[in-house]
Amino acid sequence: MKTKTFPSLMSPGRIGPMSTSNRIVLPAMDMNVSEHGEIEQTEIDHYVARAAGGAGLIITGACAIAFPYGAASMKEPGLSEDKFIPGLKALADAVHQAGSKLCVQSTHHGKVARVDVANDRPVLAPNKPDYSYDMSALADSTPDELRKMGAATAGKQASYQEMTDEDISWLVSTWADAAERVAKAGADAIEIHVAHGYILGVFLNQRDNKRTDEYGGSLPNRARLACEVISAVKERVGEHLAVLVRVSGEEYGQDGALTLEEAIAASVLFEEAGADAIHVTGWGRNPFNNFTDGPLPSKVGAYLSNAAEIKKHVNVPVIAVGRMLPEISEKAIADGRIDFAAMGRQLLADPELPNKLREGKADQVRPCINCYLCVAENFFDDTPFCAVNPALGNEAVLPLKPASASKHVVVVGAGPAGLESARVLTERGHRVTVIDKSDRLGGTMWFSTMTTPDNESLLRWFKSEVTRLRIAVKLNTPATVESIRALNPDHVIVATGAVRPKPDFPGGDLPNVQTGDTLRAMMLGTATAQEAGAVLSTLGKIGRLSGLTKSPEFVRQFTKYWLPMGKDVVVIGGSLVGLELAEFLAERGRRVTLLHETQQLGLPLAMPRRWTAVKDSLAHGVKIHRNVSIDRITPKSVEWTEGEKTHSAPASMVVYADGTTAAAPLAGELRDAGFTVDVVGDAGEVNYIHGAIHSSWNVVTEL
Ligand SMILES: Cc1cc2nc3c(=O)[nH]c(=O)nc-3n(C[C@H](O)[C@H](O)[C@H](O)COP(=O)(O)O)c2cc1C
Ligand code: SF4
Repeated sequence: MKTKTFPSLMSPGRIGPMSTSNRIVLPAMDMNVSEHGEIEQTEIDHYVARAAGGAGLIITGACAIAFPYGAASMKEPGLSEDKFIPGLKALADAVHQAGSKLCVQSTHHGKVARVDVANDRPVLAPNKPDYSYDMSALADSTPDELRKMGAATAGKQASYQEMTDEDISWLVSTWADAAERVAKAGADAIEIHVAHGYILGVFLNQRDNKRTDEYGGSLPNRARLACEVISAVKERVGEHLAVLVRVSGEEYGQDGALTLEEAIAASVLFEEAGADAIHVTGWGRNPFNNFTDGPLPSKVGAYLSNAAEIKKHVNVPVIAVGRMLPEISEKAIADGRIDFAAMGRQLLADPELPNKLREGKADQVRPCINCYLCVAENFFDDTPFCAVNPALGNEAVLPLKPASASKHVVVVGAGPAGLESARVLTERGHRVTVIDKSDRLGGTMWFSTMTTPDNESLLRWFKSEVTRLRIAVKLNTPATVESIRALNPDHVIVATGAVRPKPDFPGGDLPNVQTGDTLRAMMLGTATAQEAGAVLSTLGKIGRLSGLTKSPEFVRQFTKYWLPMGKDVVVIGGSLVGLELAEFLAERGRRVTLLHETQQLGLPLAMPRRWTAVKDSLAHGVKIHRNVSIDRITPKSVEWTEGEKTHSAPASMVVYADGTTAAAPLAGELRDAGFTVDVVGDAGEVNYIHGAIHSSWNVVTEL
């Protein structure tokens, strides 16, 4: 296979007075670990890991220029007093020592300054606002999630202060003072936040800013406050610091959202005011509706075309963010469309990404799977964790300590838990044999790639790790006490996944009822005609003989044209699997009814993704019924009770996507036979990819 190279991405860059070793930028991602505004060692470790991993520029998470005023969290770093300089300096020194440059993101959070709300201070705004938006998505947040979100503002509602001329002068001079502290700390750059609904971004927007003075009305007027801040900062520290400006190339989701044309005009003004670079982001104006449009887009390269348009109108470098995968970043820089690529979640998932690209090891980059679990913690004012990288927030644990004595470990199950266990154990010096009863790697994750294509990148990575680490894998090998004894292990890890029982309501055993297991058997071609229906099993057999059903992408595409199931499908169970399956089937032209026994759909998907999944399912025509109790399944329908009323929907096929339960009977049998055993992944507790990887990590880093 030809090794991918990234010469443009890896070429040195320059922004104002700052040079960088390459064009990869870590964009701001707040870690929420500061204590009363002070940078903590955990945060330094976090940034140093990404600097040592080769990113040319590290941008800190948002820091509050007037901390604690205008802060979103008491765990946010402050820039408001000289006492914060030593912490910032320790960070700058450590990042420099690790070979990168440091930029400090600076902001006043304006209307989303949760600390002000919690302390009964009015939040700063251009004017008394109309911040009403559709919050119906919160119906899919659990009471615990709602409580945690409310706690961030002590359960209080915001009150607003229309900024006076005095407030405006205060903001500008406070920002310049903050920049001076950043310079004194020895950082290389400061980023001024003019996006994401924070104070300067709100002034820029025509819907939010209704002022009638020189700070409202026309675009130049709305950009005036940002320009004054940029000029003041440039004047104070421009000789020492590069001044980056973060702006939305476009906002989404409401009338009056900032347009690309406005963003271009604003960027030109920002350059005139002194910006050394424009960092193009995006923002969904309703966090409960549009969060996956921005600031964390679901679409790969979501803001690239906006960044490229802005670049045509400015003379300073342009940074693009938003799922900028290495390949598209390389091409966009090589084509001169942008100058730098910021990679956020990808560098949370794998801080070593830049080094791996430089060394021609792109296939070793652990991918971000776009699951939103990291950022969901920010809604709760908590610290992000990463589904695929358990070391996030605990970087000091790396490199993992080698095993004190090498053991032969048999891992039963080649899903994400089994493969993560095998990978880490091998890295630590153990000898591992993985066995799995199916004919392929991936377990449940393989099937999840049907409905969640982003998971396929993780599957590919696991496969390449298995090859790289030369892990012995025995497929088509059922695990029994005898077959495991024959392998003579010192230890056994049971990662056999969850069990998916058949439904126990009347009609649950009818031939039109599929469970997760029969659907799988159908795709693998191992179902009997009776189990899967004659046509479905034919599909499976064709696939098995041709090998084509080994490619998730093939199955995803093929089923768009040919899906041998009737038009009317009822999915019972609307948690993660059922919700995504309902959308998958509706996208393929099926009339889908989704029946869910409780209120919140999509659990345990992270909130922003859950909200979007519900919205997308409805947009695809899925008929959703919550709080139902299933009465019976007939050969042609499903009947249920909702409130006091009974209902029925036609069903040529019923998919039972509920009842997934943790169970590891093999573990008990093995222990009885004298083996030492650990259970990981869904076999121990159902928590999908995140649970699989984290529970494995907890066990195998200690073995
Ligand atoms: C956990 C987390 C925290 C974030 N915090 C900030 C922040 O403090 N300031 C900011 O401008 N953007 C913040 N972002 C947005 C990122 O800077 C970036 O624009 C976004 O993640 C899209 O890039 P990506 O697709 O490469 O992740 C945050 C993102 C994440 C995942
Ligand atoms: S938690 Fe999910 S979205 Fe966030 S970085 Fe990790 S894999 Fe990506």
